[in-house]
Amino acid sequence: MTDLITTLEARHSQYVLQGTSQISDDELVDLINRVTVAVPSAFNIQSQRVAVIFGDEHKKLWNGIVKDALHKVAASEEAFAKTSAKIDTFAAAHGTILFFDDMAGTQQLSQQFPLYADTFPIYAEQSLGMLQMAMWAALSERGLGASLQHYNPLIDDAVRKEFKLSPNWRLSAQMPFGDFDIEHPTGTLERMAATDRVKVFGR
Ligand SMILES: Cc1cc2nc3c(=O)[nH]c(=O)nc-3n(C[C@H](O)[C@H](O)[C@H](O)COP(=O)(O)O)c2cc1C
Repeated sequence: MTDLITTLEARHSQYVLQGTSQISDDELVDLINRVTVAVPSAFNIQSQRVAVIFGDEHKKLWNGIVKDALHKVAASEEAFAKTSAKIDTFAAAHGTILFFDDMAGTQQLSQQFPLYADTFPIYAEQSLGMLQMAMWAALSERGLGASLQHYNPLIDDAVRKEFKLSPNWRLSAQMPFGDFDIEHPTGTLERMAATDRVKVFGR
């Protein structure tokens, strides 16, 4: 296993995913559970929620829910065919992690601390960002590829209905994952130099 910084440097968006996973689904669920519990949240409200979907449920998300939603808003059949081909690449993955904010927690904080009420939805999204990054890196460390997708809010109602989730669960992101061809990774390697982004004082 590598150290944290090496893991962070090695993670990239993998868009060409396979329907297999080199670690078992049980191990994956254990990993996802551990990462979800380990990641912090503002005021320790722990409002991040996760749904992991495999097999037919995963296919249903991409080929059913996402394609149906995109078909409704597509400018033309031609435009939809293009989008649909992209969705096929996510459907081809082994599974998807869905990330949600349990708005009940965010509302509770807003009532408890009215002075900061406007800030809590921002904290909620930041806490989810931390969870998404940690999950992405943990999958990458285990040799699995993943990407971060945002078909919300188009698909929110259908997702909640299909997976019988609380109306309080607001969808934040979708992370398809699976094995990928390490000879042909697909991420963006360009990065600005740290000297353009980090200032150091007092050294
Ligand atoms: C907050 C956030 C939102 C993103 N949303 C999407 C998205 O909706 N679709 C997508 O394909 N990639 C998305 N990405 C991936 C970025 O485009 C990608 O991480 C960036 O180009 C750097 O490439 P890398 O992941 O290969 O290092 C998102 C990344 C972040 C951090």
